[in-house]
Formats: sequence, C-alpha cells, structure tokens
Amino acid sequence: MEPLPMALLFVIPFLLLLRPKGLPIIGNMMMMEQLTHRGLAKLAQKYGGIFHLKMGYLHMVTISNPEMARQVLQVQDNIFSNRPATIAISYLTYNRADMAFAHYGPFWRQMRKLCVMKLFSRKRAESWESVRDEVEKLVKAVSANTGKTVNVGELIFNLTKNITYRAAFGSSSQEGQDEFIKILQEFSKLFGAFNIADCIPWLGWVDPQGLNSRLEKARHALDKFIYTIIDDHIQKRKTNVNGGAGGYYDPDMVDELLAFYSEEAQVNESEDLNSIRVTRDNIKAIIMDVMFGGTETVASAIEWALTELMRSPEDMKRVQRELEEVVGLDRRVEESDLDKLPFLKCCLKETLRLHPPIPLLLHETAEEAVVAGYRIPAKSRVMINAWAIGRDKKSWEDAESFKPRRFMKEGMPDFKGSNFEFIPFGSGRRSCPGMQLGLYTLDLAVAHLLHCFTWELPNGMKRSELYMSDVFGLTAPRATRLYAVPKNRLVCSLF
Ligand code: HEM
Repeated sequence: MEPLPMALLFVIPFLLLLRPKGLPIIGNMMMMEQLTHRGLAKLAQKYGGIFHLKMGYLHMVTISNPEMARQVLQVQDNIFSNRPATIAISYLTYNRADMAFAHYGPFWRQMRKLCVMKLFSRKRAESWESVRDEVEKLVKAVSANTGKTVNVGELIFNLTKNITYRAAFGSSSQEGQDEFIKILQEFSKLFGAFNIADCIPWLGWVDPQGLNSRLEKARHALDKFIYTIIDDHIQKRKTNVNGGAGGYYDPDMVDELLAFYSEEAQVNESEDLNSIRVTRDNIKAIIMDVMFGGTETVASAIEWALTELMRSPEDMKRVQRELEEVVGLDRRVEESDLDKLPFLKCCLKETLRLHPPIPLLLHETAEEAVVAGYRIPAKSRVMINAWAIGRDKKSWEDAESFKPRRFMKEGMPDFKGSNFEFIPFGSGRRSCPGMQLGLYTLDLAVAHLLHCFTWELPNGMKRSELYMSDVFGLTAPRATRLYAVPKNRLVCSLF
C-alpha cells in the first residue's frame, strides 16, 4: 500500500476513537433526524422538559412540558415572541416582509392588525362563503365516486388549496392555481432543506446542493406570478372606482391589501388601521403566509380526523348517530347545526391533541432569559413541542390513545390558548390568527363527509393496518394519503 492511504487507515480509526463530544459539523448533522417533533420528544424523556442543543453557532432550546410552555408563551412572552428565520426563509419572505416571520415589533403589530381585521375576520364573509362553496364541490366529487376507492387525502388537500387560493386571489381558475402550487411546493422544499450556512455562516460559499440558485429562481417565479395578479387587481380597482361593473365587486385578499398599498414601506406606531401602508413585497409575502398557514394545516387536521375515526368504529358510529339525531338523514348539514354537535367537536379536539398540524412552534429570544433556572442566550431558537405536550403523560390519561369522550367531561382543557397542555394553535402574541377560519373549514368539511357518507377501508384492509405515521416539515400531515370507499347515507338527494 502507498504510504498515504496506509497512514489514513490508522489515523481515521484513531481519530474516531478520540472523537470529541461535540464534533462540530458531522456530529451535529447526524442529529437532523432527532430534530423532528418525535425525535425531540424522545430526547425530552431523557433530558427533561427543557434542554439545550447546539448546532454550529446556533443555540436551540426545546420546551416539552406545559408549565414551561406557559413561561415562554405567557409569563415571558415579551422576550420569546421573535421568530427565527433561516437564510431560505429570509430570502423567500423578502427579508421578513410578511407577518408570520416578522420579528415582534411595530411592523409585525401592524401586519397582524391588518390581517386579523381585514383578512381573517369573521366579517370578511367572502372567505367563509368560499369555504361553503368548496365543501359543496368536495361532496359532489365524493358522491360521483361512491362505491369506488377514493384518494380522500388528495381530495381534502384540493379542498383547502381551493379555499385559500380563492380567498386570496378571488379566482378559481385551475391554470393559475397549478402554476402557483408548483411555486409553493418549491418554496416548501427550500424552507425545509438543510443549509449548513444557517449554523456555520462562513461555510455558506460551499452550497453543495445549489440552494442559492434555487432560491433565486423560486423567488423570481413568484415575483412574476404575483406581479401579474397585483396589476390585474389594480386595474380592476380602477375600473370599479370609475363606476365600471356597477361599482360593486367581491373583494378578495389582494383587493383588501391593495387598499393600503404604497410604493414605499412605512411603519408607524399609530393605532389607526387606516394609517398602515403596505408595499408589493408585503402583499406577496402575506399571501404566501395565508397559503402556507391555511392550506396544509387544515387539510392535515381533516385527514387525521377521518383516519382516527376509521380506526375507531365505536366513535365513528357515535358521531354519525349524533348527526342523524340532530340533522336527520332527509336534509343536509347547515351552519346552524354545527354548535349542536358536541361529540363531533370532541373528535376534532382529540384529533388536534394527537396530531397538531404544526407540531413545533418556532420562536426566538430577543434577549437573554431564564426559564426554570436555566439561562437561555439572546437569539436562541426556541422550539415548543406542541406535539409532545399534547401527549404529556402527566397531563393526559392514556395520553397516546384516541379517546374523544375525554373532552365530554366538565373542565377539560380547551385549545383557545389558556390551557398550556393543549396548544395546537399556540398561545399569546404569536398564536394563530386564522384559527376561526381554520376551525370553520374543519367543522364543516368533517360534518359533511360523515353526514353524507359511510366510509370503509378499501380491498378488505383491516383498520389495524392503517398507517399512522406522519412526515415532518413545517406541518406534520399523514405520511401516506388516506384511501377509502364512500357510500351514500342520506335519504334525500345530495344536491
Ligand atoms: C387547523 C388549522 C390551523 C392550525 C392548527 C394552525 C396552527 C398555527 C400555529 C400553531 C401557529 C404558530 C403559533 C406560534 O408560533 O406560537 C400558527 C400561526 C399562524 N397561522 Fe395558523 N393554524 C391553522 C389555520 C390557519 C389558517 C386557516 C390561516 C390563514 C388563513 C393561518 C394563518 C397563520 C399565520 C399567518 C400565522 C403566523 C402568526 C404570527 O406569526 O403572528 N392558520 N398557526
């Protein structure tokens, strides 16, 4: 053997034997798998409800118990309300020009106010109307396929994608949608891609996966797409202001945002909504928030609810009996029925407890803090494991089992944000502003799917064979799509 390979033969095993505890790059990259909600929950069993990790120069703190979550999201929320952003996120959100990734501060406050009052408010009837219309289309699509195996997961994803696309852009044209979804899928991949430069900035030039050019391409594609949309909307506004189309039109989210449009960014501390100004970058980034925040989250909750109920026939029977008693089989579910279906609500709560669509809440410290006696440096990434907290054995009896009836008891925790053992929508300043809209879609879609149809597993599949694993990304949907065979249940005609 040549002397060099020979030397390596001895040196490498020797180095491995001497491996220091925190081998700076490789050692930590091996941890990627542990950085999922499941991996971190396992680490929490070993190291406790709060523990610290270090990747390169990055400090990370994981919170996995309700009391510490309360410390972070309520008691010291002024320190813990910033958002961490990777290089990809900063670049793709036009340097945090949106709401979801903006740091806590005057700009975020204004964006949040604008979104809560103008886009997600119950008063914005158009969004709620698009939910009802799209649920109707879903029921139609299922009823055209009764007796056959249906890819339920895909139908549900199309439902929520159509709802958010329509609420955002007002148009349901398939052509524009396909292009937009392709762009978002690439964004999603880039958000999730591991980039060494996030942990060790001086290694940024290596870029072995060619991320930098993909980022540029993706942002350019979105720019082109949304510029056309914004220009069309500006034109539409002009026509309407000048009295065209009878002076009336159904405003979508882009229209609502354009009412605050200005060429230049302006942030002021005024409480007055009318003084807020947004740029094209803000509009693009906020629309992305809505598409990301509102599509996969809701789809994941609906698909998990149906899956859990198919695995639990007793609960499925009970919820369908409730629908039969409250609504009957000779008419369709209406909005006013939703509040009279307590067991259905319990099933949805239990689904959100076991499968919170966003399993890890990502926050960042604005300054140094102390939690449970531990010092947390400024700019640490704080991951609140909502998934582990929902399965906390000290807070929940038989925590791993799907038991909706547990929520029938008086005084059970609610998900509105003040019970820290149950935080599928987060809590406090950064909690979900789209909760009402999301819950409305979840309630309505599951109620209609269970009221109109009975569901069986395809090809004699046993319910114990249902695959219950999830995939990890910004959200945690089922790892495989749910397939099932629907049959008509109603005695009236569906339409
Ligand atoms: C079942 C449905 C949904 C669930 C479970 C959910 C859950 C969450 C969670 C856990 C957070 C982060 C909280 C934190 O960091 O502490 C969040 C934030 C957010 N959600 Fe939702 N969400 C849902 C639906 C929606 C919908 C329908 C929209 C919009 C149409 C939306 C828009 C947002 C936005 C913009 C944020 C960022 C807020 C901020 O950073 O200030 N979400 N959501």
